[in-house]
This record gives sequence, C-alpha cells and structure tokens, in this order.
Amino acid sequence: MVAVAILAAGRGTRMKSDLPKVLHDLGGRTLVARVLESLSEIQPSRRLVIIGYRGELVQVALQSYPDLEFVEQTQQLGTGHAIQQLLPHLKGFTGDLLVLNGDVPLLRPQTIQLLLATHQENKNAATILTAHLPNPKGYGRVFCDGQNRLQQIVEDRDCTAAQKQNHRINAGVYCFHWPDLEQVLPNLKAENDQQEYYLTDAVNFLNPVTVVDVEDYQEILGINDRKQLATAYDILQERVKDKWMAAGVTLIDPNSITIDDTVDLAPDVTIEPQTHLRGNTKIEASSHIGPGSLIENSHLGANTKVFYSVVSDSTVAAGTTIGPYAHLRGHASIGEGCRVGNFVEIKNTTIGSRTNVAHLSYLGDATLGEKVNIGAGTITANYDGVNKHQTIIGNGSKTGANSVLVAPVTIGNNVTIAAGSAITEDVPDDSLAIGRSRQVIKPGWRLKPNSD
Ligand code: UD1
Ligand code: CA
Repeated sequence: MVAVAILAAGRGTRMKSDLPKVLHDLGGRTLVARVLESLSEIQPSRRLVIIGYRGELVQVALQSYPDLEFVEQTQQLGTGHAIQQLLPHLKGFTGDLLVLNGDVPLLRPQTIQLLLATHQENKNAATILTAHLPNPKGYGRVFCDGQNRLQQIVEDRDCTAAQKQNHRINAGVYCFHWPDLEQVLPNLKAENDQQEYYLTDAVNFLNPVTVVDVEDYQEILGINDRKQLATAYDILQERVKDKWMAAGVTLIDPNSITIDDTVDLAPDVTIEPQTHLRGNTKIEASSHIGPGSLIENSHLGANTKVFYSVVSDSTVAAGTTIGPYAHLRGHASIGEGCRVGNFVEIKNTTIGSRTNVAHLSYLGDATLGEKVNIGAGTITANYDGVNKHQTIIGNGSKTGANSVLVAPVTIGNNVTIAAGSAITEDVPDDSLAIGRSRQVIKPGWRLKPNSD
C-alpha cells in the first residue's frame, strides 16, 4: 500500500508573489497539478496534500481531483514539520509513504515508478531520488557510502565549502516505510541555518536508506523563483516539440512556437512561426496552422488552414480556411470547406458546409446553413442591450455588403438580402429582401456658394 504526500504549504518567498508558489502556472497547469499528474503510473491508496500559506486557494485549484485529503500546516516550520502533520492522519497505516515537493513539476511518472520499485525490492526504510547537477546551488547535497547507502543530506546553506563540491543533490522526492518514519519524526531538531525541521534529517535515523539516481536531471528541477519557472517551461516545450516532430509534425522555427502538453496533433500537420497551441486542442492530419495564430481548446479538422488568427473554444471541419485576421470564439462551429476571411469575428455560431464569410463581418449567436455567402461587412445585431438573440440563415442565401441582421430574425433558404439593408423582419424562402430607404436624386441641384 502506498500513500502519497505532497508538500504544498510554503509561500515560496523567492517567487515574490501573493500567489502560493505551487499555484503558479507552468504551460497551462499549476505546479502542484503537474506533481499530482506525475503519479499516473502508480495507484496510491491515499493522496494527502499539505497546505498552509493561502491553503484555501490551493484547495480550490485542486477541486477537480477526486479524493484528495488536505492537511493543514498552520505555521511553515520546514519540510520535516510538514510531514509531522501527517502523524494523526496516518495512524495505523503500515504501507509506504511517497513524499513529493509541490514545486518539482517535471518528474516523469516512470521515475516515480522506479523509485517505488527500488524501495520495495530492497525493503528499504527510505529511498531518495537524487541527481547529479551541473549547477547544484540551492539544493541539499546527498552523501553516500561505497554501496550507495545514504549517509546524510546537507542543505546548501549548511554545507561547508568542501561539501558544496558534491554535485549529487536531493530531488525532494522520497519513499519512506511509514512505520519507520513515524517513529523518528518526533525526534527532528531545528538545528540548522534556517531553524527549520528538515525532512532530510529523518534519514539520519533510518536504515537502510539507498538512493536512486535520475538519468535526466532536468526532471527534478525545483521551482523556487521566476527564472527557474521559465527554465522549466523551456524544458517542457522541448519535450513536447521533440515528441511531435518525432510523430511527423513539421514545426517551422520551433523556438517561436509554443505547444501545451495537452495538445494533440496528427501527422503531416505543419505549424508555422509565432503560433501558440493551448489547452485541449486537437488538430487533424495535413492541416497548416500559422504563421501568427493562437489556437485554444479547439478542434481543427484535416486539411484546415489557419493564418494570423485566433481560434478559442471552437471547432473547424475539414478543408476550411480561417484568416487572415479572423477571431473564432465561444463555441463557433464551422463546417467543411468554408472560408472565414479577413477581419471576421464569429461567436457562438454554427456554420454549415461550403459557406463563406470572407470579409469584415461579425456573426454572433447565429445558425447558418450550407452554401451561404455572407457579404462583406454583414453584421448580426444580436444584443438589444439586455438580452442576446438568435439569427438563422437558411441554405444558399446571400447577404449583400454592409447588411445588418437585427436579431431575433430568421432568413429562409435561397434568400438574397440587398446591400446596405437593415433586416428586422423574417424573410421567407426564395425571396429578395431590401431594407433601406430608396436613393433620392435631385437633378440640377447644386450647393449655393457662400455669399461672403
Ligand atoms: C528542499 C530540500 C532539499 C532539496 C530541494 C529539492 C529540505 C529541508 N530540503 O529544499 O534538500 O534539494 O527541496 O527541490 O527538505 N513546504 C511545506 N512546509 C514547510 C516548508 C516547505 O509544505 O514548512 C513545501 C514547500 O511548499 C515546497 C516544498 O515543501 O513545495 C519544498 O520546500 P522549499 O522551501 O522549496 O525547500 P528547498 O529549500 O527547495
Ligand atoms: Ca524548493
């Protein structure tokens, strides 16, 4: 049986932020959410999150994770003190406790699995994840004997100059046999530079304790300041881009592109420079996105093209072209083979196949059929100042340039709307609607010259 404890009570002073450190965003998810997701390869029976500084915010942020137990550490007196708070909660628990720092977000699930397997195979009292860092500054240094048995962990600030030469560091990821740890936790002393109770001191009283070296040291990067947050983002981006390039996606100028690790791309997708793919986005085969586009929580079908545009919370079916300078948002759904062009905004609107909205339009809360042609500058007036209303346009209809459709209004199939019309009443199938005053011509009329 394995229980997991995540240390998330600290403020993270070096972030210089009001937000608890573990709630800072890293590529679309908080640090602590990423730590929780690194547990995907093991099946812990319990997950305890130790909260303190603005703990209620952490609780709210983790609402969507079922069955988390929140344990409060009212004063943050160190990582050992944090784990001491578990004593009443884990009374009688006889399994292993996996401890993770809430600020170590890049761990691979396989690494945690390896740590746990090593711990259980060796029947260790504790097993510590370690790494050899080129620049170990700030991390606790790990000292072992010849058999890889751990002797002690010394925090950077407590190290002598000679000890600082050791580049093997403590990743902040541990596995403890709980009944052993439970015994020694009350013995921790705050005799160190920070006068805190260090979890790392617990290992001095435990036996046997061995270490597992992580191969890719980037995994264990801890986030203590904004610079490390940015470095972690770069590492994440490199992982994601390597994965998609290996899977057959072309990235043109990868350094100028960002892709969340929640995005799904099919082979032969091409992503052009200055393009950002975020959230729950899926792009099907042979689509061409960018340059200069932002796609968020959207599904783009095969062979779509999007350039210099923003698409959020929307779907675009196969073969459709979006842009340049289009904005789709709030559940726009565009059919197959459509063209949504220059300076067009579409919100909460469904558009049938082979319909074009090519220039300078706003369509909000509308439903358009197939093969509709929306003339340049057509606007749905969907808001009366209090409520939003629907506009419906049937198959094969055309709106003339600069027409305004005042919702609620229904335009039938094969209707033509004259240019410059203000349409306030429903239009039946197969008809022409003209909603503007007639042009007046006054022959021979001329502006009188000024008398002075
Ligand atoms: C800790 C380790 C260090 C290791 C490093 C890896 C100790 C004493 N040191 O140092 O050996 O190399 O992590 O990243 O453990 N926290 C609480 N309550 C507290 C104090 C901290 O919940 O009272 C939480 C923080 O929110 C954070 C985590 O514990 O998520 C680590 O705390 P932090 O202060 O960042 O420890 P480091 O100095 O980085
Ligand atoms: Ca840290």
